[in-house]
Amino acid sequence: MSSRKDIIKVKQKGNRSKEEGILMPVISKRAAGIAPSVTLAITAKAKQMKKEGIDIVGFGAGEPDFDTPDNIKEAAKKAIDEGFTKYTPASGIPELKQAVCDKLKRENNLDYKLSEVIISCGGKHSLYNIMEVLLDHGDEAILPAPYWVTYEEQIKMAGAKPMIVDMTETGLKLTAESIKRVISDRTKLLILNTPSNPTGMTVEEEELKKIAHLAVEHDFYIVSDEVYEHLIYGDNSHISIASLGEDIKKKTITMNAVSKTYSMTGWRIGYCAGPEEIIKAMSNLQSHSTSNPCSIAQKAALEALNGPQEFLAQWRKEFDERRKYMVEKLNQMKGINCIEPEGAFYAFPDISGTGLKSMEFTEMLLDEAKVAVVPGKDFGADNNIRLSYAISMENIKKGLERLEKFCESLSG
Ligand SMILES: Cc1ncc(COP(=O)(O)O)c(C=O)c1O
Repeated sequence: MSSRKDIIKVKQKGNRSKEEGILMPVISKRAAGIAPSVTLAITAKAKQMKKEGIDIVGFGAGEPDFDTPDNIKEAAKKAIDEGFTKYTPASGIPELKQAVCDKLKRENNLDYKLSEVIISCGGKHSLYNIMEVLLDHGDEAILPAPYWVTYEEQIKMAGAKPMIVDMTETGLKLTAESIKRVISDRTKLLILNTPSNPTGMTVEEEELKKIAHLAVEHDFYIVSDEVYEHLIYGDNSHISIASLGEDIKKKTITMNAVSKTYSMTGWRIGYCAGPEEIIKAMSNLQSHSTSNPCSIAQKAALEALNGPQEFLAQWRKEFDERRKYMVEKLNQMKGINCIEPEGAFYAFPDISGTGLKSMEFTEMLLDEAKVAVVPGKDFGADNNIRLSYAISMENIKKGLERLEKFCESLSG
């Protein structure tokens, strides 16, 4: 007969409980199912090469290359000096919720009450909370591809099934028609990301109306990720799907963050507005996981939303110049075809003309031309690569020259 001591010893090894006679893996099924990012290996390799003194041009940036504006930094310093360094309400301070309501009214034509808003620890955390409170095992979440990798993993972590809508068949544009094909009675939500990471494409008003109609008719939610809303080029401007009518507002959770708009990726403040019942569930979840987002960062975000906004136009102008330059150059390269992105700060060219898939292309490009890009495979598009233009024009020029030579060498 085994003693209690033996049982504890075996349990600690994490293999088998003699008591229960069943296998006990160390890592939970939920965590073990999280896919490691293939991009990470490449990013790590590029970093290592840089460390070794190799001159790498990196197009991987997922954040603006501008500094956080001074007025925002000052607000954070003031918060520290005034001792605003303790717990706040778990779902965020009322002043910041009010600033979010004002912003949504001013910029997005949306009316929300404080009880319909939650502040979280970055946009990613906002999304995580949404998935956890809306999705159950067996539910389906419609995910247009190419997509930002995190959506897929968060849907799966919540036990639901991602239902992929392939946008490569429609010129990277999301259409209501293609969404319609995957709707079932298990559909719980649709991820809407306009402008999109990684494609940079937007969804225009006419299509948004059709998508809204589908959501109301088939009774599913829209998770509207609007983190790149300020980066739309040309004549279009951003439209929040929830602003299209009371019916669709009831079915939408509008999600945003200060990260990309104000170059505050490190501060970790995201926010959501939506039906009170959903926001309340998210607040409950947050109260037992992270508690409040950083008190100091909340004060900084308050200044970001309430302070001067003029610099945003200048940033957009700079991004636009880089975008135009990049797309023109990419389309001159052998085997590359780049649809002009309408927003965000990414180009997502098709590389199938080179005869290579995204991983092989990316690895060879790094080894041979010392240029780091992100393979499309992680985004559900193995014929594409992602290049960010949130880097200096000088580096864009240098990197694209190398890329051009690399593409020529492939065909030669
Ligand atoms: C489409 C999209 N949504 C949300 C986020 C999350 O932003 P953060 O968590 O930095 O606020 C990102 C960041 O890359 C993104 O690209």
